[in-house]
Amino acid sequence: MKRSVALIGFMGTGKSTVGPLVALGRGVPFVDLDDLISEQSGQPTGETLSHWGEARFRAVEADLLDTIGQGEACVVATGGGAPTTPAGRTALRRFDTIWLDASFERVSERVEGSARPLWSGDIHGLFEARRATYAAVSSRRVDANLAVEEVVAECLRGSAHG
Ligand code: S3P
Repeated sequence: MKRSVALIGFMGTGKSTVGPLVALGRGVPFVDLDDLISEQSGQPTGETLSHWGEARFRAVEADLLDTIGQGEACVVATGGGAPTTPAGRTALRRFDTIWLDASFERVSERVEGSARPLWSGDIHGLFEARRATYAAVSSRRVDANLAVEEVVAECLRGSAHG
């Protein structure tokens, strides 16, 4: 059976945009982890995080990821914080984990105006700290400053071998 792929990376690196196209290329379903959380809570993801608090949000996120990892092969776009907890990192071990890495300037442009509760305070510090986590957790890094088609092609490289 093909291994499932998890796209990880900071907010605004294009995980939810690139994910469905990578899934199409691999011939497997696409799952958006933020959407699943939002279905569970009945609220948009940002509001869910504010309402539940980060600890509960992360626990549900890791649980869902663990369940997805045990199911049929798929491509999952994770939320930017999924690899930050031990449970999230354990769940990610079931996946080929591709880190979409874009510059701080690019993610700032993309996130501007969207409702992300964690986009406040020392966001550059969070960006740098998270990069270290993504680097440690990922099997592969893809330059997400490239155009979407190029990012997708990079993600699909080698996927013929499952
Ligand atoms: C988060 C990123 C968000 C969402 C939540 C927390 C984070 O997802 O899961 O607001 O901690 O980086 P995106 O990475 O899709 O923006």
